[in-house]
Amino acid sequence: MKREKGLTILLILGAVLALTKCQPDQKIVEDQSNTTPYNLVVPNGFPQPMIPADNLTTVEGVKLGRFLFYEKKLSGDQTQSCGSCHMQEVSFGDIKAKSIGIAGLETDRHAMVLFNLAWQEFFFWDGRTKTLEEQALEPVTNPIEMNADWPTVLARLEATPMYPPLFEAAFGDKNITKERVGKAIAQFERTIVSANSEYDRVKRETASGGLPSTNPFSDPLVEEGYQLFRSEDGDCFHCHGEVETSYLLGAFGKDATFRNNGLKADWVDEKGRFEVTGAPEDIGKMKVPTLRNTVISFGDGSSVALSAPFMHDGSIPTLDSLIEFYNFGGHKTATSNTDPNMKAAGIGRNWSPREKAALKAFLGSLTDFTFLEDTNFSDPFLN
Ligand code: HEC
Ligand code: HEC
Repeated sequence: MKREKGLTILLILGAVLALTKCQPDQKIVEDQSNTTPYNLVVPNGFPQPMIPADNLTTVEGVKLGRFLFYEKKLSGDQTQSCGSCHMQEVSFGDIKAKSIGIAGLETDRHAMVLFNLAWQEFFFWDGRTKTLEEQALEPVTNPIEMNADWPTVLARLEATPMYPPLFEAAFGDKNITKERVGKAIAQFERTIVSANSEYDRVKRETASGGLPSTNPFSDPLVEEGYQLFRSEDGDCFHCHGEVETSYLLGAFGKDATFRNNGLKADWVDEKGRFEVTGAPEDIGKMKVPTLRNTVISFGDGSSVALSAPFMHDGSIPTLDSLIEFYNFGGHKTATSNTDPNMKAAGIGRNWSPREKAALKAFLGSLTDFTFLEDTNFSDPFLN
């Protein structure tokens, strides 16, 4: 009896060992014991960020990651960094509908804005990547984007005197590996937090009793836009969620993450989330983008787009065309698979000029100017 039990345990142990040994993406645990924890401040109303236990956010790792984010040595011909397509002044997005990679080729999709990434579970428009650590490795070898190979990139970093000590400070020794590059960039990206817009101020002050809970915005146009945004008439809130996402106004959480807003009548080449899941109901679904830092309002009733062009294909070039797209209601055809929350699809909404201006003004209240200018996120090679 006893022997048998021992044997069973041995067999199970053996199986477990064999399994762990074969796992291709086995986690490499780094020595972060001599690092300084980075004080990632969680904005009021936000949930706890998702920080992987095997890659804590540290002052040393963030410093290294910031250099790597702006490091052109990560691209084949050393002309492009992550920051080339993700520019801080436009919410870490790109002004081109499709970014131009190093060989002059266009990316398949529009570059995404980057902030509040520590609260997200899926990356890319189709959500094909689940961690920032993994995501950061993809552009480097992507032939359209940075078109480099890892041995070359790692050799270049090793030959640059500033890097070995930076890797040692962040990960315990001077070894430069691609996993460490991914981890450091992910640490830096988690610090890019934006929660200091007019909207955030109003939410904070309302929560602490400083403002009335109804009509809290000082500008009536913004207030009107807010009411429209969260009413069935404007109907943005079902997808660009507010309450359930703790003021994030983008998709966070598994259920609401991917939606089809009827952008296209047909999904022929591009199939969005379907490309990951293969499920027919996922055709045309894209990661619902955040609405923060998309628009600038001037307070005189006029507003312009900040992070345009919009959508996964950059097909909506201006703020006016964005509002007209939603006013039109989106496409609803047999193949479009449009979300039921696009209730006006194929019918249109008939907003008045005042309603359109109000929606724009509300979007403008979501823009955080301190984030756009925060020198903690800017190119460290320049300042
Ligand atoms: C040539 C332009 C280009 C370069 C260079 C580039 N990106 Fe991107 N980035 C994109 C595009 C385009 C997408 C969307 C791709 C898709 O969905 O298929 C994207 C998406 C992302 C996302 C997903 C954001 C989200 O909300 O899901 C992250 C994170 C990101 N990039 C980080 C980086 C990092 C880190 C680097 C450098 C290692 C980098 N990018 C280099 C164009 C670029
Ligand atoms: C059915 C869900 C849904 C509804 C309702 C909805 N959206 Fe969207 N929104 C999306 C999705 C999904 C995308 C990305 C689509 C794509 O790229 O193909 C998007 C994209 C956007 C973008 C572009 C952001 C970027 O970074 O490119 C803006 C701005 C926007 N929506 C504003 C609004 C406003 C304003 C309303 C209300 C009038 C609204 N949305 C209603 C799902 C929705």
